[in-house]
Amino acid sequence: MPFFNGTVPPHFTHTESEVIGVPTRPDTANAVIDNDLGKYNLFPFDVFKYAFKTTTVRNAALTAPYMHNGVYSDLEQVMDFYNRGGGAGIGIALDNQTLPPDPLNLSKEEQKAIIAFIHSLTDTTHTLYIGGKLNQQ
Ligand code: HEM
Repeated sequence: MPFFNGTVPPHFTHTESEVIGVPTRPDTANAVIDNDLGKYNLFPFDVFKYAFKTTTVRNAALTAPYMHNGVYSDLEQVMDFYNRGGGAGIGIALDNQTLPPDPLNLSKEEQKAIIAFIHSLTDTTHTLYIGGKLNQQ
């Protein structure tokens, strides 16, 4: 079934980690990499520097702020980050970024469509707690 996260087929028990270049602040130029080394703290190999689990985007419309450090306060900022090529597109030069560094060159409309898609993955039917609050539906 589609999980919309980074778990790997065929058993979906292993979660991929990726280096996408998340900044300290929501800057769109001259950004600085967040200093959390991520997976490198567990496995000290250079390739894992700044690597994080690829989280699900199911219910992501309900779970701002985004990324491990909460740098982005809405999905528009997240979409802009990816549209620029992640860290590489905002001035963060990592030699191990696994997110393709190319700008996506998506129009505003196309970016809105992806955000609308993420909203379509909202389902609170079986979710007891959302953003730390009890869902009483
Ligand atoms: C346009 C395409 C994409 C969109 C719209 C998107 C959306 C998102 C969103 C909304 C989050 C935040 C989740 C949260 O904090 O709850 C996220 C995190 C993440 N995404 Fe993506 N994503 C895209 C492409 C990718 C790709 C191609 C990769 C892998 C190379 C990737 C890897 C990750 C990782 C590792 C995180 C966690 C980062 C952290 O915690 O610092 N994403 N993504």
